[in-house]
Amino acid sequence: MIDTKVNLPDGYKPGLEGIVAGTSSISEVDAQKDALSYRGYPAHDLAEKATYEEVSHLLLKGKLPNKSELTVFQSQLSSERSLSPFIIESLKKCSQKAHPMVLLRYAVELIGIEDVDADKSDVDANLRKALRLVAKTPTVIAALSRLRQGKDPLPPSPNLGHAANFLYMTLGKEQDPEVSKIFDSSNILYGDHGFNASTFAARVTASTLSDLHSSVISAIGALKGPLHGGANEAAIEMLLKIGDISTAEAWIKSALARKEKIMGFGHRVYKRQDSRAPFMKVLAEKMAHRVGDTKLFAMSCRLEDIMKAEKNLFPNVDYHCAVAYYLMGLPIEIYTPIFAMARMSGWTAHILEQYASNRLIRPECIYTGPRNQVLVTIEKRN
Ligand code: COA
Repeated sequence: MIDTKVNLPDGYKPGLEGIVAGTSSISEVDAQKDALSYRGYPAHDLAEKATYEEVSHLLLKGKLPNKSELTVFQSQLSSERSLSPFIIESLKKCSQKAHPMVLLRYAVELIGIEDVDADKSDVDANLRKALRLVAKTPTVIAALSRLRQGKDPLPPSPNLGHAANFLYMTLGKEQDPEVSKIFDSSNILYGDHGFNASTFAARVTASTLSDLHSSVISAIGALKGPLHGGANEAAIEMLLKIGDISTAEAWIKSALARKEKIMGFGHRVYKRQDSRAPFMKVLAEKMAHRVGDTKLFAMSCRLEDIMKAEKNLFPNVDYHCAVAYYLMGLPIEIYTPIFAMARMSGWTAHILEQYASNRLIRPECIYTGPRNQVLVTIEKRN
């Protein structure tokens, strides 16, 4: 709580709202046009026509790959997917009651310890570390998901792409290509998003010239919160709690009357709509028709109307992702880790960019505590 007696300087913005904190050539969030692009390419075009591997190459290496570059990149990713027996055993020993985001943080620590380039920090070594994290994170999340169900982790399949392989390792069987593409598209839409909280956390850590894995761990910690990546899990929990379209309006009105936040709605930067949401909504609807159950999707649309009428607020990408993932049969507790695996290309691209043109990120704060206190000995303190 800010002491109101303190004079706040002109331009002070709580939560750094609207503050420009750096430059980046990775993604552009244009709130005026409700648009998102990755290195100049509209994100929804990439989600529709490219694969996650192509987008990962674009984010990390600055260009869309040609055929031979893609073949090399895909085979590098595929060859780095496996986890060492030590990491699998370490994850098995952890309490499966811990949230998968906590265990993912731990796994990234172990991956960093084992990385053959751990003691190197040149550009090429950092790129190799980034690539390994993009490749291994899905294997970690799939393993965590299966361990929670008392099942053994499945090894990655070298014959499947990034998205299809994740679904196979998590759900235990290969999915229809249309489902894999919907999942792949959602990962592309999650790929990067300017200076969002987790990316900024990663850049702050990188700006101290700490290592890449420490920077990613900072990002994972920031993403876990329900105001950021945790919103996809919170949104589906809410939809399931509401349970039926007939009770949606009363439920939302009463939550708003209690001044509760409705998860999956609103955004710091977008004020009219989340650029990624319309495309993701179409994919969620496609999933609903595929599984032949439109009840959840219909309820999500009803909530959207209610929130528009009550608060003039719009759903963000997490909201529609949550519906699509639920319909794919993915366990709810891995929705935020899925966001992390998709954002891994963006996070690591930002860390590399930060290293390439670094200045320590170190803002100032306004002191609101007491002044001129007199130190008394411990015996005389209350
Ligand atoms: N439900 C209800 N009210 C909301 C809301 C939501 N999801 N999002 C914003 N608001 C309201 C706030 O209560 C506040 O109202 P007030 O001015 O009457 O107090 C106003 O809108 C501004 O909200 P604020 O939290 O200050 O905006 P912000 O820019 O700091 O926060 C979010 C942005 C994303 C954190 C916020 O919209 C939110 O908490 N959304 C839910 C979590 C979520 O979906 N996060 C994922 C983001 S991609």
